Amino acid sequence: MTELKRIGVLTSGGDAPGMNAAIRAVVRGSIYHGVEPVAIREGYKGLIDNDLEVVNARSVANIINQGGTFLKSARCQEFRTKEGRAKAYENARAANLDGLVVIGGDGSFTGAMLLEEEHGIPCIGVPGTIDNDIYGTDYTIGYDTALNTVVEAIDKIRDTATSHNRLFFIEVMGRDAGFIALNTGIAAGAEEILIPEQENSVEKLMSGLQSSGRAGKTSSIIVVAEGDKSGGVFELARTVEKSFPEYEAKVTVLGHIQRGGKPSCFDRVLASRLGVAAVEALLKGESGIMVGVRDQQVVKTPLERAISKQNTIDSHLMKVAEIITV
Ligand code: F6P
Repeated sequence: MTELKRIGVLTSGGDAPGMNAAIRAVVRGSIYHGVEPVAIREGYKGLIDNDLEVVNARSVANIINQGGTFLKSARCQEFRTKEGRAKAYENARAANLDGLVVIGGDGSFTGAMLLEEEHGIPCIGVPGTIDNDIYGTDYTIGYDTALNTVVEAIDKIRDTATSHNRLFFIEVMGRDAGFIALNTGIAAGAEEILIPEQENSVEKLMSGLQSSGRAGKTSSIIVVAEGDKSGGVFELARTVEKSFPEYEAKVTVLGHIQRGGKPSCFDRVLASRLGVAAVEALLKGESGIMVGVRDQQVVKTPLERAISKQNTIDSHLMKVAEIITV
């Protein structure tokens, strides 16, 4: 075990439900192992502005069930510069930080990797994003909660959709990835699912809607990932309305509602597990890695790999989505 005195923890990028549980696990994991935890506010911005303080086990009481991140998060432009990172390092050194746990997505991990490369401060990444698009883990913190939020919303939309002859286009988050769209689309019984990973999505949508009409369906739910490449959900709705004048097309953009809410049990357990694993990795002298779960086991992936590689969409699941909409 490496002799560590202080570990810093921050949340960065888009917040995700379960981040508080992860912070709590880092803080308490540190204390358990005799290390002093330091909480950094507003992500890398807090490191640059020296907005940090030593915390104790009680500082993170009653947050495991709260959405968002009590440390606040930010997408910090200054940290993208060498000068910004040098300033952050100076403050980290002055605060005697022997290691840093960064809870966030791939942008946050890029920052952690550069900070470590340039200044030698050991960094560990904990994947926190609702998009589930980080390589090296089957699940990211916040994804499960977001899935449940989306399914609940689509279930409600279905009630009204089936009461009229309407097509409902529902945009869900996922700037670069279709994991939320594919899984919620299946779970909520969507007739069509459009994701960025799929080619010719408009053509497939049109032929799918024709089949639905022939099969006697009078309303359809179409889940569209934010990052789908067909020109945006509103444009898509107008195009479809022209080809299917018998239907009225309605658009719902679920937006940031997907990022809020109490974390699910799954996300709380995942966050607790990964927060502790991050501290223990630092204690073992490991750095420049992300902790994740694969096949129910905690695994470690170099940050560089986590950033540069992509999680792929399961083609069998895509097929399942097609089969169950006949
Ligand atoms: O990265 C997670 C994510 O939820 C994306 O799916 C979405 O595009 C983005 O965050 C929105 O970020 P912001 O809140 O900064 O607009």
